[in-house]
Amino acid sequence: MEKRVVTIGILGVGNVGTGVARVFLDQAALLTERTGIEFRIKSALDVDWERERTVDLSGIQCTTDVDDILSDPEIDIVVETIGGEDPAFDYVMRALEKGKHVVTANKALVASRGRELFRKARESNVDLLFEASVGGGIPIVKGLREGLVANRILNIYGIVNGTSNYILTRMHQDGLEFGEALKEAQERGFAEADPTLDVSGGDAAHKLAILASIASSTVVDLDTIYTEGITNVSKLDVDFAKSFGYTVKLLAICKMGEGKMDLRVHPTLVPNSHLLASVSYELNAVFVEGDFVGKTMFYGPGAGERPTASAVASDIVDLAKDMELRSGERLSTLTIDPEARPEVLPVSQVENRFYLRLYTYDAPGILARISGILGNHSISISSVVQLERHVYDNYVPLVILTHRAREADMQKALAEITSLDVTLPDYLRLRLF
Ligand code: HSE
Repeated sequence: MEKRVVTIGILGVGNVGTGVARVFLDQAALLTERTGIEFRIKSALDVDWERERTVDLSGIQCTTDVDDILSDPEIDIVVETIGGEDPAFDYVMRALEKGKHVVTANKALVASRGRELFRKARESNVDLLFEASVGGGIPIVKGLREGLVANRILNIYGIVNGTSNYILTRMHQDGLEFGEALKEAQERGFAEADPTLDVSGGDAAHKLAILASIASSTVVDLDTIYTEGITNVSKLDVDFAKSFGYTVKLLAICKMGEGKMDLRVHPTLVPNSHLLASVSYELNAVFVEGDFVGKTMFYGPGAGERPTASAVASDIVDLAKDMELRSGERLSTLTIDPEARPEVLPVSQVENRFYLRLYTYDAPGILARISGILGNHSISISSVVQLERHVYDNYVPLVILTHRAREADMQKALAEITSLDVTLPDYLRLRLF
């Protein structure tokens, strides 16, 4: 059989783009042996070619003009590894318009502008693949859309932000404070340029929007995801959770309810006996429950040059095979309808178990007042711990675990509890798995 050549242009040769160049250099023979296709990186775009790179780019046209790639008729597949929305959105739209397939690792782009991009891909009869946008090297996009194609997805629980998971693990296992652990995550290179996106839950929400879109075959709008980050979780809370037999994890949650999706990102107390509790440091995992398969978990490195490049390469190989079949699968727009929007359950209607940490004045009758307020809002207490240690003046930490209660009821109860003259404004409400 005649060997075919598939020609690639890379937009952005930073960490991930370098990895993409490297994987096609290092694994060239392996990929050709497995596919019968030769992969050729013809051109690469970057704004800065002075910076030294750790990969051999000889033989690749290095340009600062995006049109050298977008207007080159020889280029079949454009890889977008710039990151962020601007100018990535404009470049990807133009590539799709010109009839080129696009592979992107850009979670912010797919989550924020997916609808427009998938529409454009559909119009232009090309594909837009994004395996690397969630879970780095873990084949979770392919796992959901191909491996579990025969399933209705019931639930997804993801640990999809390595930075938050690293911070929480260092606090839980090694006793570090939040700030120290964040500094380490930044030094280790997996935090975003602005780590606010990591610790605010924004990055995990981007990834959840993508997973939930695949699971529902619609486009999930980012602003329909209830998002809370980990910035208010103190070492005291991590220690309390530990003493109750839980590990705090930032979970991205998608539950398919009766016609409405429950979509949330927030720190969650996961029982130590659950597999997700053992996902440590910067590693990611996505726990997926399908109606035929049952419970599965996809686990691995969620970031980094080589894992991310591995995922980008798998999309490129998929597209190259589709091109070989001529008709192509147009997988993204077949499995995600750009015109569809799911119905999302308002968070106030969700039921959860709660962890409540307060600082209360150490005097007679206080606990009775607090439990009275909870009771008035139909919230039942399952456990209470008060430390003897006075943290501020005569105030002590008080932690309450509740049975299942409605978010709206908890919200009202908390407003009353925190306006009491015997509680401090510093409190934390977390949810249990
Ligand atoms: N900042 C992200 C993380 C990188 O910490 O998971 C991978 O998307």
